[in-house]
Amino acid sequence: MQLELIVSRPTRITAVLLSSVCICLPLAPWVHAQSASGLLSSPTQTGSTKPTGQSFAERPWMDKSLPSERRADLLVQQMTPDEKIAMMHGVNAMTGDPVHGYDFVLPSKGYVGYVPPIRRLGIPALTLADGRAGVGNKAKDVTLLPAPIAAASSWDPSLLNEFGRVLGQEQWSKGTNVALGPSIDVVRVPEWGRTFESYGEDPYFNGVMAAAEIKGIQGEGPIADANMYVTMNQESDRYRADSVVDERTLHEIYLPPFEAAVRDGHVGTFMCAYVKTNSIYSCENANLLHHLLRDQLKFDGWVMSDWGATHSTADSAKNGLDQQMPDDTFFGETLKNAVKGGQVSESIIDEHVHNILVPMFQHGLFDKTQTGTWTSNVRSPEHDSFSRMVAEQGTILLKNDQAILPVSDHASIAVIGEAGSTKPKIEGGGSSAVIAPYVISPLDGIRKRARASQVPYADGKDLAAASKTAAAAQIAIVFVHTNETEGEDRPDLELPENQDQLVAAVAAANKHTIVVLDTGGPVLMPWATDVAGIIEAWYPGQEDGNAIAAVVYGDFNPSAKLPLTFPKSAAEIPTAQKEQWPGVGGRSLYTERLNVGYRWYDATHTEPLFPFGFGLSYTTFQLSHLVVEPTELKSKPGGETGNVLIKLDVTNTGKRMGGEVVQAYVGQPPSNGEPPHQLRAFTKVELHPGETKSVSLVLDERSFATFDPGADRWIFPDGEYEVFVGTSSRDLPLHSRVVIGPPGNAQ
Ligand code: BGC
Repeated sequence: MQLELIVSRPTRITAVLLSSVCICLPLAPWVHAQSASGLLSSPTQTGSTKPTGQSFAERPWMDKSLPSERRADLLVQQMTPDEKIAMMHGVNAMTGDPVHGYDFVLPSKGYVGYVPPIRRLGIPALTLADGRAGVGNKAKDVTLLPAPIAAASSWDPSLLNEFGRVLGQEQWSKGTNVALGPSIDVVRVPEWGRTFESYGEDPYFNGVMAAAEIKGIQGEGPIADANMYVTMNQESDRYRADSVVDERTLHEIYLPPFEAAVRDGHVGTFMCAYVKTNSIYSCENANLLHHLLRDQLKFDGWVMSDWGATHSTADSAKNGLDQQMPDDTFFGETLKNAVKGGQVSESIIDEHVHNILVPMFQHGLFDKTQTGTWTSNVRSPEHDSFSRMVAEQGTILLKNDQAILPVSDHASIAVIGEAGSTKPKIEGGGSSAVIAPYVISPLDGIRKRARASQVPYADGKDLAAASKTAAAAQIAIVFVHTNETEGEDRPDLELPENQDQLVAAVAAANKHTIVVLDTGGPVLMPWATDVAGIIEAWYPGQEDGNAIAAVVYGDFNPSAKLPLTFPKSAAEIPTAQKEQWPGVGGRSLYTERLNVGYRWYDATHTEPLFPFGFGLSYTTFQLSHLVVEPTELKSKPGGETGNVLIKLDVTNTGKRMGGEVVQAYVGQPPSNGEPPHQLRAFTKVELHPGETKSVSLVLDERSFATFDPGADRWIFPDGEYEVFVGTSSRDLPLHSRVVIGPPGNAQ
């Protein structure tokens, strides 16, 4: 976030009101209760959570044997109104300003969100820090991982889980107990400025990755804060934009990652988004926060607002916002007055505080002692190696004519482009930005690895000089980049700064040209047919050069796949109309409905440049012997169908060890009105040359469901469902069918 723009400071009046004893309506018990203590925290508290000698009889909520819900109930009963309100908003940990009249000592100036401790009751402080690719907010001595889109390109949930663990460890060791991440919105608009922060364009895929990463983060101590809930699909006009989306699309495309975050990831918090959904701001949207999140998805944690995304007091409190971040503009004094004035009931306040406390108990915040601080050095050699491993696992080989890659040890190579050396493009901007402890540039990495005596370099600003450098080498590798950041979308899908001309000039000078894309999302490649090789390396983090050298020389055999479609032209994308993006009159119409990403290319028979799920390897694979069981399902009275098991063989038919991602898509009967086929299961398998492995996948019930907005539930219509299995959304050689029949005894 651009903190200076939207953080408002608490006023002195707020301070006086919140720190004084009863000054309010005489008969309201909610108000009377505050005289019990009236203290938010003492001037010298530092956030220690250790109970101060009290027994469970005095502090029954400290009894770990009780369920978290019960502990939260017991604690809420003991809290004064001041204390409750204090939990419902942040204070300014960035500036360290005194808040509410107390000069309490902040743990340090650093956390982007901070809720002071309440020592009287043993409630720990909440310390919030950004972290999508490493601990953000200008923290020092942390690891810069590749962008999440790179990690997701591995199509390996276990890698995402480890990614979360590394993030979680570093956050926890920095004293953070609420880690702001991951960003899990489906990429609807390829120009979206936060594409690099997310996982891609498929709801099921994003859900699998989200759950894996969240479990990783939360397994290390901090509560994860999955964001941004929901339809946060553009940065243009993001503080006002209205995502106009029908309920079916909302359920089928935009909610599933959040659903998986709850169901499989057990996420503790969500961040509601800046944008509106169907005219109502996300953080005061009863449909989103009450009906969908609580009633349907059964979320039992808390919802905090994105920084500056709260727009009201009573509406937000009544419609489901639990906590305002980063300050108290709406949830401080004004909320207190709203309770006094009867616009917000006391039970609503209790509910919000309960929602915050439950995950704090669930994730052990009351029971563990956290020792690290914002200035701790949390790096390790293991994390450096992990960063490199993710960069390798996330690098996608898109084109490899005449097996130009991997290059031979002795080939003479020229490195061209600013991203190749003088400005390595290792990360995206905004709240994801991380201070890298070091950067290995591609030129450094390639020079270190090359056996050739020299690797000449041209930054590419002078096209003639770049062409000359390229012509003198056997192979020219051009590094191109985009500049992506939160707060703005890319204006178009073109490479900025004349880089298309640079590639064209180098390709004209050397027919063995390889382009490495350090981009956060898709770009157009007017030169695609003129170059021999194309690699998508995304924003690869601190180990950029080592990872790309390993791929270029074949020390690592690429196995990553695109988690989103690369289009051929700007006109041929699902959101090409300005009514769709960036919107007209503040409204972005989701008229493509279910046809997001590859679904649109398939539905409209549009040839992409590179399809969803695509990626090459230095070896080859064959898929065979597909078995799908059962092939007939009787829907049960509630409509559910049961799962379907897929089995097949995968053989490495080439000469190198390598990994392949097996992808299963389901095509619904045309009468269901669904896109042609949709990803419903995937798995990654590593194979030695000549080796065959049997692979199993499960199609869960949702694979055969559509959302019925009239009935407000998922339905499983009878009919013939197609099952396609292959290695990209456009390469599906194996096929079977599953028939769903009328209700009866399933299977
Ligand atoms: C971003 C969030 C981020 C927050 C705090 C906001 O501008 O949208 O993703 O967590 O700032 O930095």
